[in-house]
Amino acid sequence: MSDKRQGTNSGQRASRRDFLKAGIGLGGAVAAGKAFAAEADPAITEVQDWNRYLGAGTDATPYGMPSEHEAEVVRRNVRWLTASTESSVNFTPLHALDGIITPNGLCFERHHAGVAEVDPAQHRLMINGLVERPLVFTVDDLKRFPRENRIYFLECAANSGMEWRGAQLNGCQFTHGMVHCVQYTGVPLKRILDEAGLKTSAKWIMPEGADAAGMNRSVPLEKALDDCLVAFKMNGEALRPEQGYPLRLVVPGWEGNMWVKWLRRIEVGDMPWHTREETSKYTDLMDDGRSRRFTWVMDAKSVITSPSPQAPMIHKGHNVLTGVAWSGRGMIQKVDITLDGGKNWQPARIDGLSLPRALHRFYYEFTWNGEPLLMQSRAVDSSGYVQPTKDELRAVRGLNSIYHNNGIQTWHVTNSGEVENVEIS
Ligand code: MTE
Ligand code: CO
Repeated sequence: MSDKRQGTNSGQRASRRDFLKAGIGLGGAVAAGKAFAAEADPAITEVQDWNRYLGAGTDATPYGMPSEHEAEVVRRNVRWLTASTESSVNFTPLHALDGIITPNGLCFERHHAGVAEVDPAQHRLMINGLVERPLVFTVDDLKRFPRENRIYFLECAANSGMEWRGAQLNGCQFTHGMVHCVQYTGVPLKRILDEAGLKTSAKWIMPEGADAAGMNRSVPLEKALDDCLVAFKMNGEALRPEQGYPLRLVVPGWEGNMWVKWLRRIEVGDMPWHTREETSKYTDLMDDGRSRRFTWVMDAKSVITSPSPQAPMIHKGHNVLTGVAWSGRGMIQKVDITLDGGKNWQPARIDGLSLPRALHRFYYEFTWNGEPLLMQSRAVDSSGYVQPTKDELRAVRGLNSIYHNNGIQTWHVTNSGEVENVEIS
């Protein structure tokens, strides 16, 4: 395994190696001029081997894998971030993806105690506490309820957390890659709670995981009955072990930590439990020493995924800028783009599905003459909320925070096409 796959000491180093491996020189190697394609290209007149010989048969890959030429498109760690890989995170390669769906094998992973290896035949989901009938379900039992398919983003509250004190990691994979968006198949949690029968005093639920962390969080009943799912499939196939196989809680638009994986129990209560994950963690320490707590909703956010440090500019002339935007409050109404650090803004084009609490894909086509650029995207959601600048956020929250950094990202494009993570004030 190359050290790239094992992780890197910093995003900066990773991205420079990416340029070199991709054969893109750093020193002024930007291709000049041609409109979209060359007229006389020898690659079309030479017959290649793959055009001459039989390819692999249908028994070669029972479970399909990406082309070997895409081997660089993988989840990556930032080694120095955590002491062990079991309580750690790797990041979605946002710079290499398109559309709104994250492929299952590329969804970032965040575990507090590694990936639990759960045997679905032995696994159970228990509903207990303030219910008329405590119940224990097998995974097959849950598949007998009416099920629904819904597309949602999941963002870790700590996404962009390393950037609170200034630009740090050089790549949107590392600055923004704790987000993924898949289609879940599952049972509305309301159906399952109704089956158990809620007592009138019921106000909160506490989902709990079957991993060694036994992760648990307090979720208000209102949310549980509104749009939460107990999911068993992602993008049509069984949940991946990393994403909570065989069962995970889906808490649309709310911080990833509440989406308990390897879901084994839901206790119903009349008060929050004040668990570790909602007291010492996943709270925001303000400048005056007070903490913001129960900051569940993920505010509107966006990032330009290409160009970006791992996806530098390689052509002058026509270029496509693309990125993703999302909001825990609903849909993305619009995304504006600036190439000059905020002096001029133009609307981007949102293409594809526009669904509440899902990623939105935007594009902005532009002409580049080789001048340095300061690129930013700014999302506005369907509630009218406008994505703030990082300085606006700091003015309200101070500098102690790790979580909920949805500030506007700036990429500096140099005249050689290289892209760097910077901040402007
Ligand atoms: N559930 C359990 N049981 N154990 C965990 O460590 N991590 C949480 C949440 N659910 C976690 C968990 C955190 S902090 C996040 S951000 C999401 O799962 C990450 O989901 P993913 O690994 O599918 O990206
Ligand atoms: Co998280």
